[in-house]
Amino acid sequence: MLLEKVISIVAVSAALLNGSMDAALPDKNMDGTAFLVNRQHAISKNFVPVTRKVNGPGMSQTMRADAAAALEEMFAAAKEDGINLAIVSGYRSYSKQSSIYGRKKAENGQEAADRVSARPGTSEHQLGLAMDLAKKGSTQLNTAFGKTKEGQWVTANAHRFGFIVRYLEGYEDVTGYMYEPWHVRYVGKDHAEALFESALPMEWYMSDHKLQVYDYLIHQLTNEVLP
Ligand code: DAL
Ligand code: ZN
Repeated sequence: MLLEKVISIVAVSAALLNGSMDAALPDKNMDGTAFLVNRQHAISKNFVPVTRKVNGPGMSQTMRADAAAALEEMFAAAKEDGINLAIVSGYRSYSKQSSIYGRKKAENGQEAADRVSARPGTSEHQLGLAMDLAKKGSTQLNTAFGKTKEGQWVTANAHRFGFIVRYLEGYEDVTGYMYEPWHVRYVGKDHAEALFESALPMEWYMSDHKLQVYDYLIHQLTNEVLP
């Protein structure tokens, strides 16, 4: 017990002294679920998560295993409510994202592309934690999905399975993207519930969460080290 305490104090102190306390924060923990990836927080070109096929109607796509299991659970619950969802797009490699963004840019110009498509290295799809959804029989991704009974079910229930509708209506200036009722991001049940209740974008939620973690680390350090 004492040894554990000493190790944890040494670890926190070392992190503080190195100025790398960021490494202890949830948004840097790539095996976790609560980290931010957006235009300001890019991931490496070489980041490739371990993924598996997601079972369900629609396209054959993969996700990280924890997210895939949660999505399958969500599809089953939706079906019980008479809602039939379909898989459209899950994990996308850096190069796949690069070609999608490149195509949007060629078709509509950079400014328009940036509102709907992430530049390579900045997409949650590269994490294996995001999925684009449609109603069964469709592959259409558009804001009209938000008005359908399927889209409304996703908006009201995704958090119960650990997902959030990531790009909320009215927050383009915060998230960087237009409203995407079809794009769900796995953050785990606790964060998803809290985000749903807050109705705020993940960018704001994470800043608050980060402050709480700093607070915790500083408390731990001062309580243990100072008399
Ligand atoms: N459409 C979202 C922003 C992406 O490309 O990841
Ligand atoms: Zn998406």
